[in-house]
Amino acid sequence: MRTYLVTGGAGFIGSNYIHYMFRKYGDTIKIINVDALTYAGNLENLKDLEKKENYIFIRANICDKEAIEKIFAENEIDRVVHFAAESHVDRSIRDPEIFVQTNVLGTAVMLNCAKAAWELPDGSFQKDKKFLHVSTDEVYGSLEKEGEYFCETTPYAPHSPYSASKAGSDMLVKAYMDTYHFPANITNCSNNYGPYQFPEKLIPLIINNALQGRKLPVYGDGKNVRDWLYVEDHAKAIDMVQEKGRLFETYNVGGHNEKQNIEIVNIIIETLQEMLEDSDPRKALVTRDLITYVEDRKGHDRRYAIAPDKIKAQIGWYPETMFKDGIRKTIKWYFEHEDWMKNVTSGDYQKYYNEMYGSR
Ligand code: NAD
Ligand code: TYD
Repeated sequence: MRTYLVTGGAGFIGSNYIHYMFRKYGDTIKIINVDALTYAGNLENLKDLEKKENYIFIRANICDKEAIEKIFAENEIDRVVHFAAESHVDRSIRDPEIFVQTNVLGTAVMLNCAKAAWELPDGSFQKDKKFLHVSTDEVYGSLEKEGEYFCETTPYAPHSPYSASKAGSDMLVKAYMDTYHFPANITNCSNNYGPYQFPEKLIPLIINNALQGRKLPVYGDGKNVRDWLYVEDHAKAIDMVQEKGRLFETYNVGGHNEKQNIEIVNIIIETLQEMLEDSDPRKALVTRDLITYVEDRKGHDRRYAIAPDKIKAQIGWYPETMFKDGIRKTIKWYFEHEDWMKNVTSGDYQKYYNEMYGSR
């Protein structure tokens, strides 16, 4: 039975990936999920898997070398899929240090422990061991001209502390591949959306606020562009890169779905209007009047866009979910998981929200 060590599996993309993998491979695989359970990690995302014998959760910080070494010593790990990170740009602007700690130093610990566990006395590696580092298109910086896209050879030019820390982690993975021939891949993906996304990110924040008749904060002029990918398509890409990709290579993963932020907000309002029953009192709350332009994010990247040509040509992956379908599925999921939203937005998050948006 192949064993996966997934870091950050209690977060948004990690939990979607774990569900995807069990749907695809059933009980022919084992998954060990290592997560520190920061504010962004939520075991409720994986509740339905708790009783499975081939799913194990271990609470540990990826910066804790001893804890990670122990996991490698006690288990025959075949694949590492490394999601664990601090992932929110606005938080990185307020508190950059934790981003360097987790994203850079934590990745160094993961690489070192995997290398030590998999390396043979002659410096080569055990057969069929693979490490996949999950990264972002934000490492490439901001595109200013229409018609330009990020590709795998675009030079790194990160701007935010978040993207700089992810760029640092990518460079470490590249260094391990170049120096030790360490068996790894990197994926750089565009913005994800879908179930289980924490409502500090644009799409769930707008859905949640709209349903409560709260202001919909749009940064700056609302014309910044992001390329949105349904999270399940990302999970599929990660699996396909590990199984069909060429080792030591980077693959860009994108949705071919560029949209301005204000378009996203308008689509969410229209879709909520369509999906809410006439008898639902929330329907009257969801209007364009809620849109509120607020102070721009510092150093706000203007446009991200990926041409996922390499992954399509080499591996046959493409973004399957059209945005109009993905956003409906996402909204439906949030409709059906009101308690999940209530739980994650209570307490500390409420405090964060007031601090972040109170002054804007
Ligand atoms: P998330 O913030 O929802 O989840 C991160 C998870 O990592 C949480 O469960 C958290 O508890 C865990 N974690 C944080 N610090 C940890 C530590 N020190 N030790 C162990 N666990 C720790 O993030 P996400 O949106 O699911 O992103 C996952 C990965 O994908 C990140 O590496 C991110 O950079 C990358 N990525 C995200 C997007 C996106 O649109 N969300 C796009 C491209 C790439
Ligand atoms: P976000 O979801 O934080 O992802 P990222 O910054 O990593 O791309 O933000 C997506 C876009 O939406 C980004 O241009 C910032 C903007 N934004 C708002 O306009 N209002 C908000 O309240 C948030 C959270 C984001």
